[in-house]
Amino acid sequence: MTTPRPQHPAPRRSDAPPARPQAPRPPIADAAAAPELSDAAAQEALRARMFAQLEDKGLFRDAAARAFAYLDTIMERRVFPDDAALAGLAAFDAPLPERGAPAEALIELLDRAGSPATVAQLGGRYFGFVNGSALPPALAARWLTDVWDQNPALHVISPVLGRIEATVEAWLAQLLGLPRGTAAGFVSGSSTAIFAGLAAARWRLLGRAGWDVNRKGLAGAPALRVVAGEQAHGTVAKAAQLLGLGLDNVERVPADAEGRIRADLVPELDERTILILQAGNVNSGAFDDFADLCARARAAGAWTHVDGAFGLWAAATRRFAHLTRGVELADSWSVDGHKTLNTPYDCGIALCADPEALIGAMQTDGAYIHWSAERDGMRTTPEMSRRARAVELWAALAFLGREGVETLLGALHDNALRFADALRAAGFEVLNEVVFNQVLVACGDDARTEAVMRRVQREGEAWAGGTTWRGCKAIRISVCSWATRPQDVDRAAAAFARALRAEGG
Ligand SMILES: Cc1ncc(COP(=O)(O)O)c(C=O)c1O
Repeated sequence: MTTPRPQHPAPRRSDAPPARPQAPRPPIADAAAAPELSDAAAQEALRARMFAQLEDKGLFRDAAARAFAYLDTIMERRVFPDDAALAGLAAFDAPLPERGAPAEALIELLDRAGSPATVAQLGGRYFGFVNGSALPPALAARWLTDVWDQNPALHVISPVLGRIEATVEAWLAQLLGLPRGTAAGFVSGSSTAIFAGLAAARWRLLGRAGWDVNRKGLAGAPALRVVAGEQAHGTVAKAAQLLGLGLDNVERVPADAEGRIRADLVPELDERTILILQAGNVNSGAFDDFADLCARARAAGAWTHVDGAFGLWAAATRRFAHLTRGVELADSWSVDGHKTLNTPYDCGIALCADPEALIGAMQTDGAYIHWSAERDGMRTTPEMSRRARAVELWAALAFLGREGVETLLGALHDNALRFADALRAAGFEVLNEVVFNQVLVACGDDARTEAVMRRVQREGEAWAGGTTWRGCKAIRISVCSWATRPQDVDRAAAAFARALRAEGG
């Protein structure tokens, strides 16, 4: 039987050099040549191979040694893989094997072809998207819990996760200044956290109108309005579309020059409205005016959700608390561990001041499900089975403490300010007020801005992505890694300056 090729082969770049000579692929046993085993013997042989791996641990030691070697290069390696490394990814373009390969060979292949093609996000000169690095204690905690292989769906499946999730849930409300009793759902990221927050909003607002959305669905339901700024993140629209709220029903409010929702243009709110605000505009880092808007929403009986994917952590600090003033008056929030807090991926949190609404929206049941009097994690998440990601949050928060969070965020922002100063001095235009981690720059016309960005990305010293800001091309610099030192900023800014000179700026 021939195995079909993958549906979407990676596009081959015409300027890519020929693939590096590949070391031989892991041997794939020839089915015809292998001796036939009875089912029972084959089952026993498979078990025996895996028990041998558990006992011997060479496989794990080898993987750990390779990971340590990777860590040893992280601060100096290219930030984005070069063409040869990308060409080497052809090693993964293989048919599904009929018979398995030796595990050691797989780890070797992963390291040989995979490691060079990684983006050095864990290091100090990656400024793309709002992707954080990973705090070593959070990473180490993840390693241990990977071996635990826990599923936090139910307390009876994992009492330890039930307890850790409960602790982190209480810590988060305390740290972020949210109402006591705020419920948390530990999800994959903000996309799912926003979805969960809006599902809770839908459940509550329709419930108040006498409509049980879980049972009746949306056909014939009282119409809900969604009010969001024109700069709301794309995942807000996605959540509205997944929840049947309808993109055409999202009332978009113009934004000001920094991307904040124009409070003076927010329409009349009512008890059928979900208002979406933002703690941290993905381009400029700007924060909406929560004190005014959350109070208005409350008075009108509307529900406010705050998308604080990277910015909600500002509420945990003294230095940035002015940015989130009044945010505690919202009904639900979404935030990521894997951005500003620097937990490993994937780690998002849905927070809801109305636990009954979140639990009601996530309601499920089954004869075999054992609910407990303790915390059953699946009550507050769309998923049933999940990773033990609350452990990484616990480790990050326990390691940093309140003071460490303050210090971490302060360092990110100081580095952002340093970056902005260096780029201004090099001839770039800084387009935003640098209030929190984000620096937007341009250099003349769109073509030059784009060319400079591509040159920086190709050179490999630093990486930042592009965006469109007030109708023009801009380069987005997101300072989100604990590992970024002032000298990394200087080195990255020097790469930007070189690129600008090379493009005639
Ligand atoms: C403001 C904002 N909201 C939502 C998201 C989506 O987050 P995630 O990628 O964790 O799903 C992002 C991602 O960058 C973001 O910046």
